[in-house]
Amino acid sequence: MRLYINVDHVATVRQARRTDEPDPVRVAVLAELGGADGITVHLREDRRHIQDRDVDLLIRSARTPINLELAVTEGILELAEDWRPHQATLVPEKRQEVTTEGGLDLSDSAATDIGQALDRLHAVGVRTSLFIDPDPEVVRRSADLGPTAVELHTGEYSNAADARAVREQLTRLEAATVLARELGLAVHAGHGLTYENVGPVAAIDGCEELNIGHSIVSRSVFVGMERAVREMKALIDRARGD
Ligand code: PXP
Repeated sequence: MRLYINVDHVATVRQARRTDEPDPVRVAVLAELGGADGITVHLREDRRHIQDRDVDLLIRSARTPINLELAVTEGILELAEDWRPHQATLVPEKRQEVTTEGGLDLSDSAATDIGQALDRLHAVGVRTSLFIDPDPEVVRRSADLGPTAVELHTGEYSNAADARAVREQLTRLEAATVLARELGLAVHAGHGLTYENVGPVAAIDGCEELNIGHSIVSRSVFVGMERAVREMKALIDRARGD
């Protein structure tokens, strides 16, 4: 199980003052020292946190692979083609949202643009992933478009109100993982995962990558990024029986 650390929220603090600290690129080095397997950044169209300079520097300096989250918009796609990160995860994006709210819309009208974006990314050698809700129909539609992987949205699992709802959401995630694997897709998961709720998701057989940001960046304020990552890695390893 790979753990990718999303450092967007380090940039959020920097952008609150439009200054040069804290620098997500420097924090990424600490995450790597703590055992991160990769670094995730979301370059949003409105540039509210991560800036072009951050992605550019990360791609040139990180010791681990970069997962670039992006919406299917021409300007950002062109940048991704230029940067050629290890991996690109296509995500939905709305200007007003606080964070990515749901998985990609893969209805017929949207799927054409997503399929073309995947083709362009594959043409420059980028591994691709689609951020989707853990629903069988959406998993099937994803497979038709031919990405390398799907990232299952764990938001509903994370927000589940009681034990029964948690169990239901976990079952959805497990079933979506089995189906995606049967259809030849690699499976990632993320959104809203914390030190408290990561275990059962980390234990899902067939899931090979977690993307976690907010909870780890929050904990790093108290214990530093290196230790925050190390603690999360330990929880994941324990859940998988490693
Ligand atoms: N995966 C995707 C596709 C996301 O958009 C985000 C949030 O930027 C995450 C994972 C990480 O979510 P969180 O910050 O809640 O851990």
